[in-house]
Amino acid sequence: MLSPDATNTHFVKEDAAMKPKFEKYIPFQPQPIRGRTWPDQVITKAPVWCSVDLRDGNQALVDPMNLAEKLEYFHTLVDIGVKEIEIGFPSASETEYEICRELIEGGHIPDDVTIQVLVQAREHLIKKTFEAIEGAKNVILHFYNSTSTLQRKVVFHMDCDGITKIATDAADLIYEMSQPMIESGMNLRFEYSPESFMGTEMDYAVEICQAVLDHLHATPDNKVILNLPTTVENCMPNQFADMLEYFCRKIPGRDSAIISLHPHNDRGTGVATTEMGLLAGADRVEATLFGNGERTGNVDMVTLAMNMYTQGVDPELDFSNINKIKEMFERCTKMPVGDRQPYVGKLVFTAFSGSHQDAINKGVQYMKSSGTEYWEIPYLPIDPADVGREYEPIIRINSQSGKGGAAYIMEHNFGFDLPKSMHPEFGHIVQVETDKVGKEISPERISELFHQEYIDVKEPYQLLRHAFRETVDGEGHSHVAFQGTLRHTDTVFEVSGEGNGPIDAFFNALHDLPEGHIEGYQFVDYKEHAISSGSDTQAVCYIHLKDPRGKDVFGVGKSHNINRASLRAILCAINRSLA
Ligand code: KIV
Ligand code: ZN
Repeated sequence: MLSPDATNTHFVKEDAAMKPKFEKYIPFQPQPIRGRTWPDQVITKAPVWCSVDLRDGNQALVDPMNLAEKLEYFHTLVDIGVKEIEIGFPSASETEYEICRELIEGGHIPDDVTIQVLVQAREHLIKKTFEAIEGAKNVILHFYNSTSTLQRKVVFHMDCDGITKIATDAADLIYEMSQPMIESGMNLRFEYSPESFMGTEMDYAVEICQAVLDHLHATPDNKVILNLPTTVENCMPNQFADMLEYFCRKIPGRDSAIISLHPHNDRGTGVATTEMGLLAGADRVEATLFGNGERTGNVDMVTLAMNMYTQGVDPELDFSNINKIKEMFERCTKMPVGDRQPYVGKLVFTAFSGSHQDAINKGVQYMKSSGTEYWEIPYLPIDPADVGREYEPIIRINSQSGKGGAAYIMEHNFGFDLPKSMHPEFGHIVQVETDKVGKEISPERISELFHQEYIDVKEPYQLLRHAFRETVDGEGHSHVAFQGTLRHTDTVFEVSGEGNGPIDAFFNALHDLPEGHIEGYQFVDYKEHAISSGSDTQAVCYIHLKDPRGKDVFGVGKSHNINRASLRAILCAINRSLA
């Protein structure tokens, strides 16, 4: 804003103060590419997985793991099926060095697992790293230096030639030091990371990576891993895929390289970046369990693998007991796994919405009745059992749940198969309670409400004694006579009636009651089933009546005797309507 008496300087200051804060950020410059092919690809096989939990993940912990924790973590990764595991930065500290030695000397590394060790492209650190890996069977020596425009400008004050020389000098030393080890039988391979690849000019990234391939004498039979890290995620996943496709097209030694991804998750799109990077030609992925790692973490190996799994692709990793892995992870890293973390979070197999609950219910029934060989349940992208989780906690009840949710709990947790017509009534009873308490209620509380509302209703009418006598005529028609004693508060009545079945006979017997007692009820429907808990089996009966004003009313009775269960259900419905 201009003020009449302001000086020029004042104008500038005011303008600067008004500049929106977001304008201080430099937008990402996409890599121009013609005829990109990656959008037409699909992921059809698992990449080579490399875990960087024990290095990138560990260095980002408030309390880095101790030896025992790292060993336990390492064994879990082996059990999951990870074949390449970056175990640390052995030249960085004595502790890291000791852990590397213990893994090798303690015989912890299976023959089909390769350990990977990270080192900066610096002579003394490389020498120390070679000492650390002595005696191991399979090793990837992973060295790196920063190549991005920003790092060259603000950290290294070096031009591209200087940065390339750091990488090629390191490659020469590594190649030379590795020869005796390879000759003595070690399966030693190399990995180079142009750190901050995502902020490097692509033509320069190609140039430095090709120089490293040359200095390491890479061939198609002796491939070198080129790990292209998204050290800090700075662009959209499609823009990263364009860079990667461009890089893979341009690098002359593509056949002598394994292209590896190492995405971080600063924009929250690490998984998408990795998936699109695989479409664009990557062969290998460095990731961590549940996405632990610097800042917002490394990309999550579990999500990546299970995303493939749910597309019918074998991820070649075993997450069939995900709770056990989560428990180990939380204990060793002291980092919590979020309740909504894909595939593992506490709430990811829970439906709060009533319409979701109904659809899940229908999906379960459809799968049973159709015998389909596919997973076809709405709102559940994966069978919880495939990651060792259960159907039971799928439905939880809060004030957002629909009428079917409470009935679902009664059926799946307690064996009461309520007739469909009764769902709205019981759903409403549960909803009143959830509104009252203002939070989710447990299946036990739902069962308690059901018992209070139906099973435990004994007033004002109660059946004290009764007997049935059944006769069947020559044509097989049954005729039932009922006789019983009913109590209404302090008064006792003897009643009797006849009908074509026990319910009919009892209903007719109620006409014996003096005027003013139980009049005008109509029978609508009836359902019964057995319910067992342990060795005890009982009958449950649901009765639907219309009360004298024509209002629907339901009753439930439970007994070891099926007839008694239905009489209790009738009286329950009547007692409830009077209450
Ligand atoms: O994120 C990164 O760039 C790294 C490198 C050391 C590979 O962790
Ligand atoms: Zn990293």
